[in-house]
Amino acid sequence: MAKVLVSDPIDQVGIDILSQVAQVDVKTKLPPEELIKIIPEYDALMLRSETKVTKEVVEAGTNLKIIGRAGVGVDNIDVPAATRQGIVVVNSPEGNTIAAAEHALAMMLSLSRHIPDANLSIKENKWDRKRFIGTEVYKKTLGVVGLGKIGSHVASVGKALGMKLLAYDPFISKERADQLGCTLVDLDLLFSEADYITLHIPKTQETAHLINREALAKMKPTVRIINCARGGVIDEDALAEFLAAGKIGGAALDVFEQEPLGESKLRELTNIILTPHLGASTAEAQVNVAIDVAEQIRDVLLGLPARSA
Ligand code: NAD
Ligand code: MLT
Repeated sequence: MAKVLVSDPIDQVGIDILSQVAQVDVKTKLPPEELIKIIPEYDALMLRSETKVTKEVVEAGTNLKIIGRAGVGVDNIDVPAATRQGIVVVNSPEGNTIAAAEHALAMMLSLSRHIPDANLSIKENKWDRKRFIGTEVYKKTLGVVGLGKIGSHVASVGKALGMKLLAYDPFISKERADQLGCTLVDLDLLFSEADYITLHIPKTQETAHLINREALAKMKPTVRIINCARGGVIDEDALAEFLAAGKIGGAALDVFEQEPLGESKLRELTNIILTPHLGASTAEAQVNVAIDVAEQIRDVLLGLPARSA
C-alpha cells in the first residue's frame, strides 16, 4: 500500500480521502533532519506553510511521486528540484481565496477602528473612549496591489463599502479592472493617492521588498498598509522605522519575512496589528484545501493524471 506523510495540520476530511488509497501518517513539527530521514519511506507528502521542502528534502524523497500544498503558495517547496526528480507539485489555488480576502478586510476595519487595542483596554478594566477615535473607510481610496483572486474579492467588498478603488497589476486587463470598478494605475500613483494599501501578490524577485523606504516615502502620512499575502514583499525594518516616526498611519501584517516571527521591532509598535499567518485559517477554507489537494494526491497514487501547481 502507498504511504502518505502529512507534515502540517490539515483537516480530517483530507486524511479520510487519502486513507481510501494509502497508509497516512500525520507527523507535524518535524525537525528538518528528521523529515529528511523518514521521507524515503513515502510516496506522497502533504503540507501547509510550516514544512520547508528544501532541495535536500526533495532529493531524499526517492519514492515521492507527488507533493501537495494545502493552500496557494508553493514558495516553501523547491519546485524546480521536485520537477527535476519527476515529482508533481500540486496546490489548491482557490480553496482559501475568500478566507484570505476576509482576513485582509478584517485587518483594514480593525486598523480603522482600533479594535485590538480597544478590546485590550476594556479587558484591563478601562473605559477609554477618547483614545479610540477611528476613521471611516467610506469614500477613502483603497489601493489594491495584485488584482488576482484575493485582490479581486477585496476590491469588490471595498466597492460595496463605498471606497474608491485604485489597482496595480501589470498582468490584468483594463476590462477586468473596469468590471471590478478599479482604476488601473502605476505603482507610484497608487502609493501617493491611497488611504489604504492592501497587498495580494506572490513573493517573486520583482515583488521582494516592493514596499521599501523609497515606496513608503511616497505615501500619505495617514496611509494604512495591509499585508495578508507574503512576508518579504515589505521591508520590515523600513516599515518599523516609518511607523515609529509617525510617517505612516498604521499597518496590519499576517505574514512575515521569517515565520514564526522571532524578535522584531514590529512587536514594540502601537500602530500595528499582527496575526500569525491566519489568512487561510477558517473552517471552510481548511476543508476546501484539504479536499482539493487530497483528491489530487489520491488520483496520482491511483495512476491518474495530475493538475500541477
Ligand atoms: P493570484 O495568483 O490569483 O493573484 C496574484 C496577482 O498578483 C495576479 O493577478 C498577478 O498578476 C499579480 N502580480 C504578480 N506579480 C505582480 C507584480 N510584480 N506587481 C503587481 N501584481 C503582480 O493569487 P491569490 O490567490 O490572489 O493570492 C495572492 C497572494 O496571497 C499569494 O502570495 C498567496 O500565497 C497569498 N495567500 C496568503 C494567505 C494567508 O494565509 N495569508 C492565504 C492565501 C493566499
Ligand atoms: C497560502 O498560500 O495558501 C497561505 O499561505 C495559507 C496557508 O496555507 O497557510
